[in-house]
Amino acid sequence: MSQSVAIYPGSFDPLTNGHGDIITRAASLFKTLVVAVAHNPNKKTIFTPEERVALIQEEFGSKFENVEVVSHSGLLVDFARERKARVVVRGLRAVSDYDYETQLALMNRRLAPEIETLFLAAREDCSYISSSVVKQIATFGGDVSAIVPPAVKRALDEKYRLGLIKG
Ligand code: COA
Repeated sequence: MSQSVAIYPGSFDPLTNGHGDIITRAASLFKTLVVAVAHNPNKKTIFTPEERVALIQEEFGSKFENVEVVSHSGLLVDFARERKARVVVRGLRAVSDYDYETQLALMNRRLAPEIETLFLAAREDCSYISSSVVKQIATFGGDVSAIVPPAVKRALDEKYRLGLIKG
């Protein structure tokens, strides 16, 4: 595995310590880990794809030489093929993630049988974190510093200050 490329896709709106846990562990398993920020115009996000990429880059760009952060639109499997990646990494926090994640993994396998999905069990202390929970707390001016990296906290504080996060 140390010779290969893996993709870790997601919306990352915003990056949380839960995503950070998966990035850190996956980066140690693969020669290159491409964190792929999905640009889905149908999903309402508070951060633009460029902002989401920049926040992940700020947190991980200098920590790991083998982590690349990019945004992509279109089918994940097409992007994986373009990057010659054989593995898609996803985190599993609880049983409740299982149905959705297996649906994605099976559909991706149907579209591209050569690409495998690898699930990493979320670290225990990250298993309750989600981007929605982070946004909900930030919406009401709550402190999210224990569950997101400092750069994300600053960015959320700024959105809150500008009135750009609404409950
Ligand atoms: N730590 C923290 N949060 C986690 C987590 C972890 N380890 N694992 C999952 N989550 C949370 C996210 O915070 C997010 O929370 P939210 O719903 O509150 O925002 C939620 O799980 C969804 O996770 P995310 O990884 O962002 O998935 P997504 O459903 O937004 O996007 C894609 C999934 C991008 C992989 C998928 O839509 C995709 O591949 N899109 C491209 C188009 C395509 O190929 N479609 C066909 C696929 S079958």
